[in-house]
Amino acid sequence: MIEIREIKSKDTIPIRSEILRPGQNLDTCIYPHDDDCTSFHLAAFSSGEQTSIASFYLEIHPDLEGSIQYRFRGMATKVAYRNQGLAGALLTYAFEKIKALDCNVVWCNARVNAIQLYMKMGMEICSDEFDIPGIGPHFLMKKEF
Ligand SMILES: CC(C)(COP(=O)(O)OP(=O)(O)OC[C@H]1O[C@@H](n2cnc3c(N)ncnc32)[C@H](O)[C@@H]1OP(=O)(O)O)[C@@H](O)C(=O)NCCC(=O)NCCS
Repeated sequence: MIEIREIKSKDTIPIRSEILRPGQNLDTCIYPHDDDCTSFHLAAFSSGEQTSIASFYLEIHPDLEGSIQYRFRGMATKVAYRNQGLAGALLTYAFEKIKALDCNVVWCNARVNAIQLYMKMGMEICSDEFDIPGIGPHFLMKKEF
């Protein structure tokens, strides 16, 4: 059974490190604004084990319209738990929460491998491809509420 819960920023570090920053210093797993009062962090739990995470920040993208925008980053699911709907369930929960905060737009810099999933979540690509050094090609994606 999948359960989505809010977690503390420090509890994102193990999966961020394992999946998103393997082999890098743990300092690189702490993101700007992690502990702002408007930020929140979600995890999906499968049979009690934390298996997927993402973090959400009140942040305006300069190329997007909308006075209240949320950005998400640090979306990651442990390898053994992929393709079971965990990230999708987490994002569904998050988008409902963000909508309730009167947010106009949710956006992210999407890694290429996550684009299909984000499109299924109702997001659209709204930039050309750009490179994030050390990570690879990305596209800006957004969903308007
Ligand atoms: C991208 C990532 C977070 C997706 O996590 P996930 O938990 O596997 O995502 P989901 O299971 O919700 O969806 C993944 C795919 O499985 C499919 N799926 C969903 N539920 C499913 C189920 N019950 N059975 C089989 N497939 C299912 C989805 O439709 C989706 O297919 P798509 O990629 O063709 O759109 C994960 O692959 C990951 O951690 N990748 C490495 C880090 C990364 O790139 N993060 C994104 C940063 S922008």
